[in-house]
Amino acid sequence: MSEKAELHYNGQVFEVPVVKGTEDELALDISKLRAQTGLITLDPGFKNTGSTQSAITFLDGEKGILRYRGFPIEQLAEKSTFLEVAYLIIYGELPIGEELKRWREDIAHHTLIHEDFKVILEGFPSNSHPMGVLSSLVTSLTAFYPESIDPTHSSPEMYKSIVRLMAKLPTLAAWAYKNEIGQPIIYPKNNLDYCSNFLRMMFSTPAEEYDIDPVVSNALNKLLILHAEHEQNCSTSTVRIVGSSHASLYASVSSGINALWGPLHGGANQAVIEMLENIKADGGDADKYLAKAKDKNDSFRLMGFGHRVYKNFDPRARIIKKAADEVLSKLGVNDPVLGIAQKLEEAALKDEYFVERKLYPNVDFYSGIIYRALGIPTNMFTVMFALGRLPGWVAQWKEMRTNSEPIGRPRQVYTGYNERDYVDVSKR
Ligand code: SDX
Repeated sequence: MSEKAELHYNGQVFEVPVVKGTEDELALDISKLRAQTGLITLDPGFKNTGSTQSAITFLDGEKGILRYRGFPIEQLAEKSTFLEVAYLIIYGELPIGEELKRWREDIAHHTLIHEDFKVILEGFPSNSHPMGVLSSLVTSLTAFYPESIDPTHSSPEMYKSIVRLMAKLPTLAAWAYKNEIGQPIIYPKNNLDYCSNFLRMMFSTPAEEYDIDPVVSNALNKLLILHAEHEQNCSTSTVRIVGSSHASLYASVSSGINALWGPLHGGANQAVIEMLENIKADGGDADKYLAKAKDKNDSFRLMGFGHRVYKNFDPRARIIKKAADEVLSKLGVNDPVLGIAQKLEEAALKDEYFVERKLYPNVDFYSGIIYRALGIPTNMFTVMFALGRLPGWVAQWKEMRTNSEPIGRPRQVYTGYNERDYVDVSKR
């Protein structure tokens, strides 16, 4: 394998180094391209551009492989817990007993929110989308923890900032939901595990305790693991580029929450259920909607289908689809949109348009069906994605800062006017 590529341009030959990763991925190192050749590259959407070298997640879109720090997602989803996986993603190794005990206890100890947050929360109208509330509340954490503005000066400070965010995000998320439905907030109980504590804050009321069903908390645990990290996706790239200006962890994660909100990214899980509900209301004709998805003159897209990287099955979608069947039967839920989703998937996987473009169900196609069966309201689905993705955002921000990566500032190709002189308004 050659360690160099040659670029022939303007009668000259330029050598471009080739970088090889631990899974034999290859990349042209163009960091000196402009200085050597005067050329930049152009790649809208960064479909062919690597922004960094990272040791956190490996995924192979052609083979449908996803590993966190080398461990296959299938094994982690089956055998681990979300907090253990979060530690693995952030610190690089599965925690040994004492480390896991301390990690769990530290997070349990920091689940409470400063009482002044209630004043901020009450400032939001009750129908505010919880994603907008959540990103605002996360940025507000810097007001209460100014030492978090740059925690990189000390690892104890970095650890405390990370623990606070891991601990408080579920509380902030549940409080955003309670604010939206006009119910009083429920305080965390530190003797509950991470998922049960969140479910209780979401669904208990002062009048009635939520009865925590292990089927529900176990399903949530699996969903959070499956959403925990996914290398340089849109929201994680946002966290990295915001953090590259040395903005704080909380400000960077808040930006990630906003990027995730979009329906082409994490917002797809909400868009999938809304799409399935519309198809159900319109008679449940899967073929009609597949035709719309293929019609270039129709803006309709099959939400939950397709992926920038996976050109085979998204391994997470496989696990979630299996879990959806299990959870719905264990809970005795018969959701008619599940049948519509299965019909759409079956038809799409045989349809030339989808096969040719390698469009398969992604992580968002079935997740909403489980969230709904767990009692999570539709406009909280993307908040659930954010809860899951938090360890990934934290780990990628930490890796970028620890490696002292430069501020992100892409170039462009200018296509506007050439130089022209000012014309006084009286002469225009
Ligand atoms: C996530 O990157 C990540 O890792 C993201 C994520 C993570 O864990 O962080 O995995 C989470 O964001 C999953 C994706 C959720 N989004 C959706 O489900 C929205 C629906 N899907 C798409 O909009 C689309 O597939 C994307 C955004 C996911 C990917 O878009 P790309 O890579 O830019 O591909 P494209 O839009 O250029 O599509 C290629 C072709 C086009 O057709 P042609 O112009 O070649 O004729 O496929 C078509 C598209 O029109 N196409 C679809 C389609 N997705 C792509 N046609 C119909 N329905 C779809 N869903």
